Amino acid sequence: MAGRDLDERAWTFLIAGIILLGVTYTTLKPAPEPPSVPPIVPQLDPTMIPLATGEEPIDVLFIKSGCPVCHAIPGIRGADGRVGPKLVLGTTGPRQLADPRYRGQAKTVREYIIESVINPGIYVASGYPDQVMPRWYGQKLSAGALEKMAGYLETLQEGS
Ligand code: HEC
Repeated sequence: MAGRDLDERAWTFLIAGIILLGVTYTTLKPAPEPPSVPPIVPQLDPTMIPLATGEEPIDVLFIKSGCPVCHAIPGIRGADGRVGPKLVLGTTGPRQLADPRYRGQAKTVREYIIESVINPGIYVASGYPDQVMPRWYGQKLSAGALEKMAGYLETLQEGS
C-alpha cells in the first residue's frame, strides 16, 4: 500500500539521518585544545636584548637588559618585577655570601652580583626558582656594564 511504503521510507530516512548526524558529529567534533598553560615566568628573547657597553646611564642599562621584568630595583623607574628577589644587595649580598649553601667564588658583594648575573646557577636565592634567570647575560653585558650594575646594586639596602 502507498501509505505503508511512505511510512517505511520516512523511517528509513529518519534512521539514516540520525546515523549521518552521529557520524558527522564525531568526525567534525573539534579536536580537544592542547592544554594552554600560561607561561608563569616571562621569557626574554636574547635577540631582543641589545649589547650593553656600560656607557649607558644606569637606568637605561637595567631597562635595556630586561632586569626589571623580573626584579624590583629601588631607584629604577618601573622596575618592580616579582619573579626574582628584590635587588637590594647591600642587605642581601652579605647574607647570601654567609650562607653555608653558597659554593661560588665571590669574596665581595660586588663579585657576588657579577657572578649571579653571568652564572645564575651557582647559587640560587632561597625561595626563588632556578633556571629562570637567563643564562646568556655574559654574552650581552660588557665587563664595564657588569661593573656599573654591580656598583649600583651593592649600595642598595632593604627598605630603600
Ligand atoms: C626572567 C627573569 C629574570 C631576569 C630577566 C633577570 N633575573 Fe636576576 N634573578 C631571577 C631569579 C628567579 C633569581 C633568583 C634565583 C637565582 O638566584 O638564580 C635571580 C637572581 C638574581 C640575583 C641574585 C640575587 C640575590 O639576592 O642573591 C642578582 C644579583 C640578579 N638576579 C641580577 C639580575 C640582573 C642585573 C638582571 C639584568 C641584567 C637580571 N637579574 C635579570 C630572574 C631574572
